[in-house]
Amino acid sequence: MKYIILSLFLTILVTNAVRLGHDSALNKGLKYYRGVDKLSASSVSDPSPMWYTQQVDHFDPSNSDTFQQQYYVNSTYYAPGGPIFLVLGGEGPLTAGYVTGHFVVNLYAQKFNALIVAVEHRFYGKSMPKPDLSTENLKFLTTQQALADYATFRQYIAQKYNTGNGKWISFGGSYSGSLSAWMRLKYPHLIDGAIATSAPVLPQLDFPEYFEVVSTSVGPTCSAVIANVTATVTQMLANDRASVQSIFNACDPIVTDLDVATFMESLSGGVAETVQYNNDNNKYTMSNITTMCAQLEQGDPLQAFASFNNRYNTFSGANCTTSSYNSMIQSMQDVDPNGDNAASRSWTWQTCIEYGYFQVGESPNQPFSSTITLDYFLQQCTDIFGPPGYQYQPAIDWIIADYGATDYQGSNVILPNGLVDPWHILGVLQTTNPNIQISIIPEGAHCSDLYPPKPNDPASLIATRQKEVALISSIIYSK
Ligand SMILES: *[C@@H]1O[C@H](CO)[C@@H](O)[C@H](O)[C@H]1NC(C)=O
Ligand SMILES: *[C@@H]1O[C@H](CO)[C@@H](O)[C@H](O)[C@H]1NC(C)=O
Ligand SMILES: *[C@@H]1O[C@H](CO)[C@@H](O)[C@H](O)[C@H]1NC(C)=O
Ligand SMILES: *[C@@H]1O[C@H](CO)[C@@H](O)[C@H](O)[C@H]1NC(C)=O
Repeated sequence: MKYIILSLFLTILVTNAVRLGHDSALNKGLKYYRGVDKLSASSVSDPSPMWYTQQVDHFDPSNSDTFQQQYYVNSTYYAPGGPIFLVLGGEGPLTAGYVTGHFVVNLYAQKFNALIVAVEHRFYGKSMPKPDLSTENLKFLTTQQALADYATFRQYIAQKYNTGNGKWISFGGSYSGSLSAWMRLKYPHLIDGAIATSAPVLPQLDFPEYFEVVSTSVGPTCSAVIANVTATVTQMLANDRASVQSIFNACDPIVTDLDVATFMESLSGGVAETVQYNNDNNKYTMSNITTMCAQLEQGDPLQAFASFNNRYNTFSGANCTTSSYNSMIQSMQDVDPNGDNAASRSWTWQTCIEYGYFQVGESPNQPFSSTITLDYFLQQCTDIFGPPGYQYQPAIDWIIADYGATDYQGSNVILPNGLVDPWHILGVLQTTNPNIQISIIPEGAHCSDLYPPKPNDPASLIATRQKEVALISSIIYSK
């Protein structure tokens, strides 16, 4: 994901986990996914990971292979008969922070005497159905398999903790927000209600709106500066590549057209991340839109942008701007489940086979480079996962058929979206389904309602959390 990312859960417990270095991560996947990889055990009192023996394949009766799926439990607030808050893992590793207060879930749990259980998504972190992330093994990484994991896991926890008639509420944000909505849709007898934050339930092959919202969110002046830089860099790439490489501290020489696209996409990263997470309460932030644009609008556009870009690289653990397509691909070909790019590889797979979400620069109404094309992303699917020449076609129509996309027909679900967040475009923003609630947060970023409140939260964000509490309350106290 690089392009993608959905990101969600970021974190608080920032550690030194360096986010990949040079080519990869920055560039793939986790680019807009600040966080999960930085959540980690923060103190000795953190709960220990626990393990559930899970089926590798829920749909092949002749396959009885199993793997260990990681989860965490916090029973501090739980009173017997109380509800169970099931926090669903998304496209990144799970950590103790998922149950120790990084998210607003703990405040809700305290209010309702809930058991908090967080479970890791297959093929992320330590929950590996197969020994490595080879393309052959990734065929077990599908949304259906992940939802089936959560269903059987839910049954196991119900028995283990003897939860009786306690109500089950699932939580998730971003991709796991979609999973949360879909757990309620597909397993209504197991999940009584869902919080589905910033859920991009509409898969879409190419996603030009992403950068359009970035443009709108930063405003016309700031967007014009970025467009100026894109135009200037494009001109310089035609006749003075050496200067571009030096100004932006490129990791490698920019040689081919695919290198150009890779480099131009890298330049969008800091701005996109700043917008997506604007003023959230994640506590892991380099800038917000205000501080970023103040810097970009000051002095020479090229110098200002380069300075911002290079600061962002340092902040995100890279010391240079990714600029070689081949080395980016090479880093994404690493099948080591403990490698720096493991989560990026798994998520990229999910986009190549099911979601698309490719954040192209092809709209005229955005300031980034039009070299960031759909072909550029589809080429990556082929080059990363093979075989050579195979044309990946994400199963968009199937995902829409299976879950309903923006025509979502679950019940007892709230689907909040922040309008500053580019991902809101793919969310449920209006509905004729009287059994769900949407909640628009005009000033909101990606997943902002999932973090605990902070001073000066906008009224719409405060109201969204109140609606979540009211929904949970209505589910728990219904017969
Ligand atoms: C549960 O979360 C609270 C914060 O909400 C934390 O203080 C407590 O230590 C956690 N309990 C366990 C067992 O992790
Ligand atoms: C970018 O802005 C600078 C200074 O504001 C201006 O001199 C230059 O012509 C602009 N470049 C492009 C390509 O628009
Ligand atoms: C970035 O850092 C790595 C490891 O610290 C080093 O090997 C590499 O040469 C550095 N690259 C640049 C462009 O500074
Ligand atoms: C943006 O960040 C600055 C510096 O941290 C802070 O003073 C300002 O309040 C933030 N802007 C908004 C709208 O919160």
